Amino acid sequence: MTESAMEWPAVGLTLRVDGHEYPVPQVWIGDSLLAVLRERLDLDEPRDGCAVGECGSCLVTLDGRPAAACLVPAVAAADRDVRTPQDAAFETAREAVAAAGASPCGFCAPALTVAITHLLRRTADPGPAAIREALAGILCRCAESGRWIEAVARARGAAGDDADADTDASGPRPGDSGEIAMLVFEAGEPA
Ligand code: FES
Ligand code: FES
Repeated sequence: MTESAMEWPAVGLTLRVDGHEYPVPQVWIGDSLLAVLRERLDLDEPRDGCAVGECGSCLVTLDGRPAAACLVPAVAAADRDVRTPQDAAFETAREAVAAAGASPCGFCAPALTVAITHLLRRTADPGPAAIREALAGILCRCAESGRWIEAVARARGAAGDDADADTDASGPRPGDSGEIAMLVFEAGEPA
């Protein structure tokens, strides 16, 4: 083994992202899931805000649980179910965030879609305090968080409409990927 190989051990791994399998060769064992998603798979979402677990921008789900992708080693996510904000499970919340104008610059929108989806899976009709608490871990640089409550209300209404239109109650619902354990505050916990 060369000296550089000992200093920079790398492994090949397979990531399952939004239902697709991606073999990723030569991943340094110190690389975060966020780094691999963005730099090796060229995904624009999740966002990279701080890379140290403080801003909440990089929220994804790992086996159905919210996780800060910058705090999860990529090797720890191998062969597990990774869902980025671009996954169809978050579409309702994504549309609600857009309709409410809750993220004008768009930077915090991906994390919001994940967080709102999981809030509504956990609590069907959250009040303003519960919403603020649930989304408090996401840093909005544009100070537009005043519109987040409206975004949650729109997502809740849209989800209700979908439920009314869905005659097959046993079918999959957005976010049905496993145990929901909100909040963003938990995002850094090892899954
Ligand atoms: S990028 Fe800021 S918490 Fe992960
Ligand atoms: S709207 Fe710009 S970071 Fe939230």
